[in-house]
Amino acid sequence: MEKIPYETILDISRKVNIVDVIADYLPLTKRGKNYFAICPFHDDHNPSMSISEEKQIYTCFVCGASGNVFNFVINYEKISFTEAVNKVARKAGIFLDIKTKSNTSSFDDKNNKYYEMFLLACKYYKNNIKTKYGINAIKYLHDRNLSDEVIDNFEIGLSMNGNEVSKLLEKKGFKKEDFVNIGLSGSKDNFCYDIFRNRIMFPLYDTLGHVVGFSGRIYNGEDESKYVNSKESVIFKKGSLLYNYHRAITHAKDKNEIIIVEGFMDVIRLYTIGIKNVVATMGTAITREHALLIRRLSSNVILLFDGDKAGNKATLSAIEELEKINITPRVIRLEEDLDPDDYIIKKGIDKFNTHYNNAMSSIEYKISLDKEKTNFNDFNEVSSYLKSVSKELEKIDDRVVYELTVKKLAKQTGVDIETINDLVKNIPKEKINIIDKRKTVNKDKFVKAEEYLIYYMLKNKEAIKIYEEKISYLTNEKLSKIADKILAFYDENHYINITDFVLYLEDEDDLIKEVLKIDELSLPDSMNEEQINDYIKTIDKGLLKKEINNLKDKIRREVDTSKKIILLQKLTELKKRECK
Ligand code: CTP
Ligand code: MN
Repeated sequence: MEKIPYETILDISRKVNIVDVIADYLPLTKRGKNYFAICPFHDDHNPSMSISEEKQIYTCFVCGASGNVFNFVINYEKISFTEAVNKVARKAGIFLDIKTKSNTSSFDDKNNKYYEMFLLACKYYKNNIKTKYGINAIKYLHDRNLSDEVIDNFEIGLSMNGNEVSKLLEKKGFKKEDFVNIGLSGSKDNFCYDIFRNRIMFPLYDTLGHVVGFSGRIYNGEDESKYVNSKESVIFKKGSLLYNYHRAITHAKDKNEIIIVEGFMDVIRLYTIGIKNVVATMGTAITREHALLIRRLSSNVILLFDGDKAGNKATLSAIEELEKINITPRVIRLEEDLDPDDYIIKKGIDKFNTHYNNAMSSIEYKISLDKEKTNFNDFNEVSSYLKSVSKELEKIDDRVVYELTVKKLAKQTGVDIETINDLVKNIPKEKINIIDKRKTVNKDKFVKAEEYLIYYMLKNKEAIKIYEEKISYLTNEKLSKIADKILAFYDENHYINITDFVLYLEDEDDLIKEVLKIDELSLPDSMNEEQINDYIKTIDKGLLKKEINNLKDKIRREVDTSKKIILLQKLTELKKRECK
């Protein structure tokens, strides 16, 4: 890949607003001049990340993550600097003519071939279902109330009883080991055969909408497993993929709500009744990665799992995972063990919508589960019911919700409101440990002087000139690197400001963090040359001290006496300079 010129990066950065870009990933709230978000770079429970529109910089005051719009995209999406610049440029409506090895697609270069193979297979399956071989499959889908439009929209296809995909991929020049690797084919005695045979094929997509796997359903036989899924590969991890995510993004953001279901038939059914802000876990438990992906879309989450026992279990574990990242989901439970697809078909849209419009709070849901298990004629059972419910009550922040729930419980159990309140009060509180990871270590005066000097170098060209003329080297390695970069930036551009300088540092996170930390030192804005010279003197002393220490080390290790004497003489000279 070519290197993107600094001018281009600067141009893009001027055309985007970091607030808009981050808002595409995280819900933001405005407080004063700045915006705040739950920091995605550590296990955050309160909004610790602030985004400054003025400086076009984000900073987390807990974990210290910080940078500009490109650094955010790099760290959030775990992509390269060039990829991040491309992505941000696209958001700003700028087309970058940066040549990557293959084409202008956003595919990660080394995985390109895998995406291409899946795309090819997808086209092939889609075509099959429209031929005479697809008649029964289409009939099956129509019988399940799926229209041709839906079949097209979800790119539903058909795999055949042969090894056509393997042959096709080989003919197109792909390597056998590659299509075996990603699970499109199996191999035996150097012969490749198709994994998916005579199944209705549902493509699985990553968050950007690239096909990264398939799920194949039987439609004309009951003797095999219902679904066969692609095996996991470098581009397909079940624990971090949610079916339909890429299509749901805009709908979830528009509605500020995201619904999670278990199966893709549930997603597709909801689509047919106009509910498009929906993703499916594909029958696995919600992972932390899933939860983080969900949080990007909205913090209003509705869990709509199958109405059976397994669905209850999945709901409880999803609540737990989401609560860890500060999301309290709502819950819909369907009766008669039905899944959303069957429910809508069997009971109709109106009945479904009644459920949808009356989603329970997760606390209500947990209480209802406990209630089902309790025999209210048995006092001991009532007691343990209330104890268990108290734990949930303790988590309610909203006083009105709390009070109404307690009243309801009092009525239900015949136990006084005060008694229930007491139970809640006596729940041992979880200890919260606030760790300030940025606790300032005691820095020596030399490093402090170096930081102060850099503070002014970032704002004032005179300070840069003084640095260049008088020292051009610092004791602290990181600070020295920064000072050199400032010098280089100034030489090329003949001006200095923090925002542009951070752009110039591209993806050097360590240096960027340090620069932004220094920028936060509250020193007087106007620079006083005398003060700068004081810093220089201190830094000089630091450099001398470092030199002396190095020399002492050397002397200690030197075995040759005559050489040792020369070194000792040098040491005396340095010490004399130190006393001046
Ligand atoms: N699943 C799977 N492998 C299976 C069974 C299920 O991967 N052998 C996943 C599928 O993603 C499926 C989801 O788990 O969509 C839920 O499973 P299930 O409720 O059994 O399937 P339904 O979605 O109800 O599918 P259908 O209506 O076609 O029977
Ligand atoms: Mn179903």
